[in-house]
Amino acid sequence: MIMLSPEIQGITFKRILNIVVASDNNTPNTVEFRGDTLHSKLNLISNSCDIGSKVSLQQIRSEKKVRVVVEAPASIANLGPGFDVLAMAIDSFKDIVELVAKLGSGKIVVKVEGFKVPEGKENVAYGVIREAINKYGLDGIDFYVKIIKGVPPALGLGSSGATSAATAYALSLALNLGLDGKELIKLAGSGEAMVAGLPHYDNVSASILGGVVLIDPESIEVLKIEPKKTFWIAIVSPDIPRSPKKTYLARKILPSNVDIRTVTKQLASIGKVIHALCMGDLELLGRAISSDYIIEPARAKLIPNYWELKKIALENGALGFNIAGAGPSVFSIYYTKEDAIRVGNLMINHLKELGIYARLHIARISKYGVRCVG
Ligand code: HSE
Repeated sequence: MIMLSPEIQGITFKRILNIVVASDNNTPNTVEFRGDTLHSKLNLISNSCDIGSKVSLQQIRSEKKVRVVVEAPASIANLGPGFDVLAMAIDSFKDIVELVAKLGSGKIVVKVEGFKVPEGKENVAYGVIREAINKYGLDGIDFYVKIIKGVPPALGLGSSGATSAATAYALSLALNLGLDGKELIKLAGSGEAMVAGLPHYDNVSASILGGVVLIDPESIEVLKIEPKKTFWIAIVSPDIPRSPKKTYLARKILPSNVDIRTVTKQLASIGKVIHALCMGDLELLGRAISSDYIIEPARAKLIPNYWELKKIALENGALGFNIAGAGPSVFSIYYTKEDAIRVGNLMINHLKELGIYARLHIARISKYGVRCVG
């Protein structure tokens, strides 16, 4: 287990260029642009993230804009018992966020392609940018955001988290904010607050860092867990009516008080998840993922035939099974891809018999978090 705070693997910034940008009233503003040491994230006017790419002052003066394209993976939060503290990035879906910033009057335009989610003020990217403007005093800049929405929304796969994470990172790169991991996570959490009522940091931490993470929601201290063995993940997403307030509602039904005996059992499960990941004990991992004494009992009723799906999965070869984030997707883990497909299809067929259409997605842990891509 590696502690990553506050400078986080993959997002340690270093200054690479000092550039003078002419403002509209011809008063030069000194802007220092930075790039990412590992993935060469910076993209200035030209479509290149290369740290070494030379951007002439003339280009900056004539175009007066910065363009960054960032991608962020989907994620599965909680991993069974770890409500709001555990999450893993997955490689089956990602959002791509293109951010263009230029001198202006403070306009924020958010457009979306791909999966349908609200544009403009209703989009989490808007919330993240607004928060950044207030927090870092980014007045006098126009922001144009295009989101290629590849993470299906409202399924429990960290869709809002992926957009929020990518937007926060794109902002940091484009405007040379030099945000460290903790600041990025906090900023991205403001997007999550728009859909969940309060910020939660599990999905955004996984989308930013990649891999499996444990986040302390009080201190925003993140621990990156390095799984010793990898596994296959079957995600079953039932096509049932979903409110845009789905996460908010799925949090509202949770118990406000939990007895100490239940808390003790839950703590043991979380400890087992972390131990099993570090030791590569996939059977223990599966059992621990399947043992949630607080959240799963409350949320199971939101998912059609939840307990029957769990039984089918565990009796046919799944190592572990639980709700993906706030649902309604469920996830299960396997030694092999073949098992993941086979058991996933058993669940799909079961739902089909009930007249419920569902999709199966096979994934692995994404070792990448946010990355500059264009
Ligand atoms: N930890 C959050 C929840 C994830 O379970 O409500 C929501 O995406």
